[in-house]
Formats: sequence, structure tokens, C-alpha cells
Amino acid sequence: MTAYADFYRRSIDERDAFWAEQAALIDWKTQPTQICDYSKPPFANWYVGGTTNLCHNAVDRHLAKRGDQNALIFVSTETNEERVYSFRELHAEVQRMAASLLALGVKKGDRVLIYMPMIAEAAFAMLACARIGAIHSVVFGGFASGALASRIEDATPHVVVSADAGSRGGKVVPYKPLLDEAIRLSAHKPAAVLLVDRKLATMDLTAGRDHDWATLREQHLNTVVPCEWVDSTHISYTLYTSGTTGKPKGVQRDTGGYAVALAASMQHIFEAQPGETYFSTSDIGWVVGHSYIVYGPLIAGMATIMYEGLPTRPDAGIWWHLVEKYKVTRMFSAPTAVRVLKKQDPALLKKYDISSLKALYLAGEPLDETTAQWISDSLGVPIIDNYWQTETGWPILTIANGVQKAPSKFGSPGVPMYGFDVRLIDENTGEELKGANQKGVVTIEGPLPPGCLQTVWRDDARFVSTYWKSIPGKLVYNTFDWGIRDEDGYFFILGRTDDVINVAGHRLGTREIEESISSHPNVAEVAVVGVADQLKGQVAMAFVVAKDASALSEDAARLKLEGDIMKVVDGQLGAVARPARVFFVNLLPKTRSGKLLRRAIQAVCEGRDPGDLTTMDDPGALQQVRQLFTK
Ligand code: PRX
Repeated sequence: MTAYADFYRRSIDERDAFWAEQAALIDWKTQPTQICDYSKPPFANWYVGGTTNLCHNAVDRHLAKRGDQNALIFVSTETNEERVYSFRELHAEVQRMAASLLALGVKKGDRVLIYMPMIAEAAFAMLACARIGAIHSVVFGGFASGALASRIEDATPHVVVSADAGSRGGKVVPYKPLLDEAIRLSAHKPAAVLLVDRKLATMDLTAGRDHDWATLREQHLNTVVPCEWVDSTHISYTLYTSGTTGKPKGVQRDTGGYAVALAASMQHIFEAQPGETYFSTSDIGWVVGHSYIVYGPLIAGMATIMYEGLPTRPDAGIWWHLVEKYKVTRMFSAPTAVRVLKKQDPALLKKYDISSLKALYLAGEPLDETTAQWISDSLGVPIIDNYWQTETGWPILTIANGVQKAPSKFGSPGVPMYGFDVRLIDENTGEELKGANQKGVVTIEGPLPPGCLQTVWRDDARFVSTYWKSIPGKLVYNTFDWGIRDEDGYFFILGRTDDVINVAGHRLGTREIEESISSHPNVAEVAVVGVADQLKGQVAMAFVVAKDASALSEDAARLKLEGDIMKVVDGQLGAVARPARVFFVNLLPKTRSGKLLRRAIQAVCEGRDPGDLTTMDDPGALQQVRQLFTK
């Protein structure tokens, strides 16, 4: 048996002994008395009886040995700011933020919603919450007021931390007016709003509610806020993600299990060395930002780069410039970003000394072979695809080079990671597919390893019914991805089984987009599907039946309505969710029982065979889609 095969086998067959060893990678205030309580499947409680703190493990723990070492490197090519915080400075800033939150009345277990651009204060706020045992809920800064409002309503935060504005491609993107509108729309009103004023946009302040971070910071320059020791199972954060229904789910994470899972992944997967620099190009609004911009690298004693800006500005060499300047050893990005860079001048890749770089990790969407080959040739370092989800918090499938060096296969993210008992299941029969090269649903046997979601925030029933009861006759975690496994045990991911789409690595629910489009007064019915795209992996396409279609034979009227519908989506959900095109049809393809045939529409848009259409009501509907799309 190889070293990794043995490591993996132990993680499944001797689960508690294995994870007890991993627990030693973090600091505990009190040691756990039980490694995994799985007495009420599918709910798993990890490290029961243990107390710890995420902020302590990410920051305080390093002060003695590496207080003056770089911890957080904030770079904005939008505002031309660059600021390096040592662990000691980070410790001070986090305490100022924690003291400010406490002054605003935040108590252990309260929610703090963070709606921020990629600035250092966003990381301070996350760590400050962890420090005082508050639950953070970061909402991606690209989301607009409708999406923000539904998250405020579900999370019921005591405080919202935000900023006047972000900036993208040199254009100021105001946050405050969107936040005000979201609070107006939400039934829940936060008691206080803490605002970072970057002086990018003017802000209307609501007296008694809105507070200025600079002022509060000044008042708490030297306030000492000790870490609150919390139970291992204490909720560290919730993070909303899209699913099959329109309502986003609050993925809920614990403290101890998450800290151990990250510490272990930093060692076994990312081969972290304290003192080195990690650069993840993601955003704190996504799970990669939580695990591998903020918590993972810091827990491992690495410096982490927070970058605000585009990969192509001032030119497409900016990331390699940062690699050279900060001697980045481990870099994490998404395939779409690589495809963007591939279109730029190749000389920019050769301009900098990137010899510090040891590996590039890519995740979030399928990594096609051409892109993988190109970046591998260009950088000359291993390209490590990794497959996971907001729900799991860390990779399900990849290569654990820290345990044993293993070859990657382009097109495959790799093999199951320790702790993940991955099984392929036949969707119809629920039977396990044990042979090679059979297509099935990727599932995971319980308990999920440490670091994965505990439940859906305030909705245990949804956690069980959505994730664990979707395969008939089996209690098994459903990833909602199709996959196959080859003769060597390498998996290939073939896309989602549900209505989730992946645009440039951003996970979006087509139902959410449909709900938003439906709110336009001239929309009677709508279907949104994800269609393959060379650059972004997928884009959203909308098919709309208008209430009043009388003017739509005119190009100008059609374009105007298309533009208006896009504006509705921009305003409610944000530009990330905007469909690439809105097409107008007389009717949508449906079954005789009235079910929308999204997969048939998608197949036609991608020029594929739509499959069995015997239950379709009116074949003319699909024909219309075909004509529109091939025009
Ligand atoms: O469909 C899979 C796809 O992204 C989904 C999860 O997205 P999200 O919750 O945003 O988490 C991203 C964490 C990296 C998955 O269900 N996906 C993620 N990584 C890959 C992938 N598809 C193919 N290959 C990957 N490496």
C-alpha cells in the first residue's frame, strides 16, 4: 500500500484515531473528550468537549515566534494602496475591531454581517468576530440590495460592517447606498452599522445607527480584547450559497473542526511552511476566501495576500509582480482567471522572477486540459486542480502532495481526500457504482469530516432533506455533481445535477435569477439556464415570455426590454448574476404536467441532443429556442 493510500484508509477505518492526531495541529484551551459524536446522523459533532478559538489559532498563537513576520499583505491596484501587517500589527487591528464591535453591543453568538470590498478591514472584521465568539456572515461585495436584504433577513445580524465603496477596473462601486436599500427592504433591522470610510464615495449616515470605523478605532487603540474560548462546536460563521430553490442557504460552520481541517489541509495538501507567502486571488465573499485567504494561511503561520483589483490592471503581469515581490510560494486561483490571462501578452509572464512559486492550485469550476497545459508550461510548476464546495470548506478531491507526491492528470481534480468517503451512485437506482468509468452522482458517506457544514443555518430540516435524503433509500451526502472515476481511482467532475450554474467560478442559482427577472412588470414567465462558454465556463441565458409582446417584433423595443431586465437583475442581485442574453419566446418548453424543461433548453443552446422529449407539451417551444439561439 502506498503512503497516501494508507493515510486515506486510516482516515476512514480508524476515523477517531486519525482525527485525534490531526487535532494536535491547533491550540486548544481544553482538549476534546470525544473526537466525533455521530450519534444522530447526519449531524456530526467534532471534537466534543474541546474549547478553542479561531482567531487565537490564526493570530495570537504566532506572536511569540513570528510576531514581526508578515501576516496580512493588502494590495489594491484600484486605489494604489499597499500595506503590510505583521502578526503583531494584525493582532492590534483585530483587537481594535473586536473592541468596536463589543462597544456596539455585539455578544457571543450574535451575527455580524460583513459586506465589504477586498480591504484589510474585512479580514480584521472576520477575525474580530471569531475572537469574541460572534458569528460572521460575509456577503460577496458584488451582490446588490435584493440579495443582501434576503441574507440580512435570514442572518438577523446585530451589526453590519461595510464601507463607502469598492472599486473595479478603476470605477468606484458604491456599497453604502446598496446597504441602505437592503436594510430598508429587510424585515430585520441591524442595531448598528460600522463603516470604513475609504473616501471613495460620499455617504449619507443614519444618526444613531451608522458609526465610523476610524473614530471607533481611535477610541480603542489600546483596548485589550482577549480571545473568548468557545466550544469546538460553536458556530464560527455562516456563508450563503445557492441551491435548487430561490432562497440561498446559510452554510453553517463550527470552530474546532474547521480549524483542524484547515490546519491539516495546509500541511497535507498545500505543503505550507510558516514564514512563506500564500496568494489566493479569490474574494472573501466566497468560501475560498474564508478558508484560503483568511483562516488557512494564517493558521499555518504564513503571510497571506489580499488583492483588490483585476488580474489585468495595470497590466496582466500584476499577479506575477506580486509573486516576485512577496516571494509567493503557493498560489490559488480559478480556471477562468487563467483563461483571461491566456489571452494577454505572454511576455508579461516572463517579465518577473517567479522562481519562489512552488505550485498553483485551481478550483471552483472545471479545469479544461488546454488551460491546464498552457499554465503548466508557462509557469513550470505543478498545477493542482481541487474540487470542493462551500459546504465542505476544503478540498474533497485533489492530490495530497504533502503526504505523498502523486502525479496529476489534466482534466481530473484527483482522488478523494482523507476523511471524505466518496461514492458514485446511480441516480435512478441509488446503487453504488463500483466499476471504472461509470457516470454517477458524487456522494459522501457520513459523517462528513471536520470543517464541513454542521447544518443549514436555522434549518436542520432543510439540511437533512436537501443534502442527505435526495438519493432514494440512502442517507448519504449529495454533492449535486456528476462524476466518473477511472481505472486509477482519479475522478472527473462532469457538472451539476441541479439548477446551480457556475459563471467564472461564481456559483449562482438559476432559480434566484428567474425570481429576479420575474419581478419585471412585463415578464410573464422565464427560464434561466447555464450555457457553456469558452472564457467563463458557463454563462446564464434567459428565455422570457413577455406579458405584452406587441412591440417586441421591433429590434429597438426588444433590446430596450432586454436591457431593462438586465438592469433589474443588476439592481437586485448584482452584475455577477446578470444573464449574458435575454431572449423572448412565445412559450417555454414544458412537460404536459407543466414542468419547465431547463435541461432540454440548455442542451439545445449548447448544440447537444436534448434527449427524450416524449413528455414535452408543445415541441414548437423548443424549436423556437433553437432558432433564436442559432441565429
Ligand atoms: O460544481 C462543482 C464546482 O463548483 C461547485 C461548488 O462551488 P462553490 O460552493 O462556490 O465552492 C467552490 C469551492 C472551490 C461544485 O459543486 N467545482 C468546484 N471545484 C471544481 C468544480 N468543478 C470541477 N472541478 C473543480 N475543481
